[in-house]
Amino acid sequence: MKNRPVCAARWLTAAFAVVAAGLVTVQCDTKPGGADERIKIGFIVKQPEEPWFQMEWKFARRAAEKHGFDLLMIGATDGEQVLAAIDNVAAKGGQGFVICTPDVRLGPAIVAKAKMNGLKLISVDDQFVGPDGKFMTEVHYLGISARKIGRAVGKYLHEEMTKRGWKVEETALCVVTFEELDTARERTDGAMEAIIGLGFPKERIYQTPQKTSDVPGAFDAVNSLLTKHPKVKKWLVCGMNDSAVMGAVRAMEQGERYGADTVVGIGINGTDCIVEFEKPEPTGFYGSMLLAPKRHGFETAEMMYRWITDGVEPPKDTRTAGILIHRENYKQVRKEQGITD
Ligand code: GLA
Repeated sequence: MKNRPVCAARWLTAAFAVVAAGLVTVQCDTKPGGADERIKIGFIVKQPEEPWFQMEWKFARRAAEKHGFDLLMIGATDGEQVLAAIDNVAAKGGQGFVICTPDVRLGPAIVAKAKMNGLKLISVDDQFVGPDGKFMTEVHYLGISARKIGRAVGKYLHEEMTKRGWKVEETALCVVTFEELDTARERTDGAMEAIIGLGFPKERIYQTPQKTSDVPGAFDAVNSLLTKHPKVKKWLVCGMNDSAVMGAVRAMEQGERYGADTVVGIGINGTDCIVEFEKPEPTGFYGSMLLAPKRHGFETAEMMYRWITDGVEPPKDTRTAGILIHRENYKQVRKEQGITD
């Protein structure tokens, strides 16, 4: 614990370096002693610039501090970087790694590379898909209950629409989709399923695909959708995560056409959206389903550590839940969930 501030400072520097360079390994000794005997675990993420992944790293570091192992935090945004990152973990004397892959179809290549290097592997967030298009259920995985969380988004959107007394005839649901990623599709399908179940008309649901799963990708997708539906007066918005909904809300704000009184967006993650809640005036970004970055970061890193040291095999498939946060409750809920101190 004594050297925590040093580690924290190193971690921050490292986080910036990762964002800038894309592929940077960092290790932080939390206990004195011969570095070579220490366990080393990699934590590879697809979008190091996203607050969600920075949170996962933050909590993985807590596990490293608790158990006294070294954590190698690596950002890898494409297949080439992923394979290089795995080699890097092995070269540094690592025994295993946790990964959120930039492309789930890299699953077989990642498994092969891990085997070749004698590394244990846990996938987090995005489940690997095999050559047959099926999930690689043999790979240990921790992810979210995507459909259930998506359904909650649909329910809360409907609830807000009703609370505000919006007429269905002047309201539409904008769904920013990212079909190529199963966990993303499950979330948006769940949201649509739930809102339709509550009586919202199917024909007032407009889907728009984002080319990249980030704010600009969603912004472009929604920009083109808005030109097609100029008559909509009020928008409900959902997408795979906070970035998707933030991009949509930004597109809707252009020209001051839509704002907090005409848009209700609900994201997923509860991490990237905090900037929205901290703005002095409310925006169309109403709320978010707060996931469990602590479990995704701490638990996966800890499971890997126990697997390496005690041979305790992690569960094959773990799913985590979400809780709605918004301007009024986000500080308290995040504290209760152990996300902030
Ligand atoms: C995907 C998304 C992230 C986050 C995680 C949660 O990886 O890209 O933003 O929602 O799922 O598991």
